[in-house]
Amino acid sequence: MKPRHFLTLDSLTHDELLSIISRALELKEQFKNKSYEPTLANKVLGMIFEKSSTRTRVSFEAGMAQLGGHAIYLAPTGTQIGRGEPIQDTARVLSRMVDCVMLRTFEHERIETFAEYSDVPVINGLSDSFHPCQLLADMLTYMELRGSIEGKKVVWLGDGNNMCHSYMNAARIFDFQLSIACPEGFDPDAEILASTKGHVVIEREPETAAKSADLVVTDVWASMGQEDEQAQRIEKFAKYQVNTDLMECANDDALFMHCLPAHRGEEVSEAILEGPQSVVWEEAGNRLHSQKALLEFLLL
Ligand code: CP
Ligand code: NVA
Repeated sequence: MKPRHFLTLDSLTHDELLSIISRALELKEQFKNKSYEPTLANKVLGMIFEKSSTRTRVSFEAGMAQLGGHAIYLAPTGTQIGRGEPIQDTARVLSRMVDCVMLRTFEHERIETFAEYSDVPVINGLSDSFHPCQLLADMLTYMELRGSIEGKKVVWLGDGNNMCHSYMNAARIFDFQLSIACPEGFDPDAEILASTKGHVVIEREPETAAKSADLVVTDVWASMGQEDEQAQRIEKFAKYQVNTDLMECANDDALFMHCLPAHRGEEVSEAILEGPQSVVWEEAGNRLHSQKALLEFLLL
């Protein structure tokens, strides 16, 4: 039988995602009390990082240790992956040694290919197109602090990137309205836009997009792999910064989220990132709990 994978939020149903979020809350309580259950004893997670990471690496590695399992960090340097061994071969080899693989890479197709050749569950730890693990943590954070997100308004500011695409999927699955404020030329993928019609609108004016929002979200203007476009993007994205004026357009009790790392003074002002509406540290911490629940879902 083919294993379940987590390549995008659409890999799981609405109810499965909610059950992961609910289990994450239990695991968070256990973490606070330092009373861990070794539910993944003897299980091994292989983690392939073809891009940098702090949160994703540490949350998966710490999560596996806390559940009684083990995680192996694999980077292009020092492995045959970086010397051109085909991903199809790596998938078949790792499937014979580990219980689950997390992959962070560039083209999303690379994760799809890996999953096709893998006999064990594959988790997308970020691709150029999606970042579903971050959405598990973001949804957990919202629900923990504000209850159901159904029918709420979320505004995405900045680039129509991997995080934006995962927010679009989340809008359809969790039934919230998403306004995307991005400069022309930086729209999200047209196919994903078509598939989320009815839940997602594109607004060029950030203030209009943010009006009455319950959740304000942004991300870096130049993602990993786009470093040489940084200067040009700073100019084009300037008016999409989340700052005090922009936050005032949202509801008074709106939350601010950012997957991090953040560039203060670019996509978000220091005052907002460190201000009372920002829940970015809780959001980052929730990566640990939501991914532990995801690992249990895929492995047990
Ligand atoms: N948000 C996130 O995925 O962070 P890292 O790049 O540090 O893993
Ligand atoms: N959009 C960002 C997210 C980082 C977690 C990137 O891909 O670099």
